[in-house]
Amino acid sequence: MPRKIIIDTDPGQDDAVAILLALASPELDVLGIVAVAGNVPLALTERNARRIVELAGFPEVPVHAGAVRPLVRPPITAEHVHGQTGLDGVDLPEPDVPLHPKPGIDFIVETLLAADSGEVTLCTLGPLTDVALALNRAPEIAPRIREIVMMGGAYFEVGNITPTAEFNVYVDPEAADVVLRSGVPITMLPLDVTHRALATPERLARFRALGNRCGAAVAGMLGFSERFDREKYASPGAPIHDPNVIAWLLAPELYEGRRINVAVECASPLTLGMTVADYWRVTGRPANALFLRGVDDAGFFDLLVERLARLP
Ligand code: BDR
Ligand code: CA
Repeated sequence: MPRKIIIDTDPGQDDAVAILLALASPELDVLGIVAVAGNVPLALTERNARRIVELAGFPEVPVHAGAVRPLVRPPITAEHVHGQTGLDGVDLPEPDVPLHPKPGIDFIVETLLAADSGEVTLCTLGPLTDVALALNRAPEIAPRIREIVMMGGAYFEVGNITPTAEFNVYVDPEAADVVLRSGVPITMLPLDVTHRALATPERLARFRALGNRCGAAVAGMLGFSERFDREKYASPGAPIHDPNVIAWLLAPELYEGRRINVAVECASPLTLGMTVADYWRVTGRPANALFLRGVDDAGFFDLLVERLARLP
């Protein structure tokens, strides 16, 4: 039976590729997509999510609107990385499929309460606002969640939006704190993993060579991020973040890491949003997450290419 997932996301080019990877994979049953404010404002992330389900040929997958802003802080966006639309680098038509009328937080709570306990996995590709709101509103969902698999945080790679914080956690550290203290099984795909999965020009050429519209869109979108990130990191290609969440569900053998304690800094102006990962287990704090650190990046790209080839 395919694994049931909800994708909470702020597309975002790498979010879009993650959604495509999930929709292309029969091992996964995407129950719905919840858009959250993050890379760009909610009005754009929900529109982008609808454009992507249509691109993939899955217009029946519902797209819901989640939170318009973080729990307590003003919104922070990243147009300098993703462009004004959030999906710069590809010219996708306005979506025909409407936004689902059910608010995203209601969708998360109701889906978890209606499903068997332990049946539904939450995949988060953006700030954790929606999941924190759902957990705060309906704490009884916590033991029903199979797992939260999140792209977020960093330890050895420290930060990307500030010297000490990764974007998804930095935007809403209080929400990340709620999630990390929730007791729900968590797998983290931090910058330590994603900075090893680089979209080199050769890899972008493989997407383009697929000859389908999704391959061309992925090459265009990741090529856009590449222009910014390659310069920033002086690396042979831009890091591909969010698709690692889905790839981990499909092929966990590509990844390695440790079960450790991870806490979030919510107070210090200097290190706000830092994920303090007890990788060497020196604190005695109980493990609350599987913190992944390594990836077989060639295997990851092979998987991505193979799955995207199945889409239109
Ligand atoms: C994360 O932030 C966003 O810019 C990306 O979509 C990814 O989810 C990386 O820090
Ligand atoms: Ca994202």
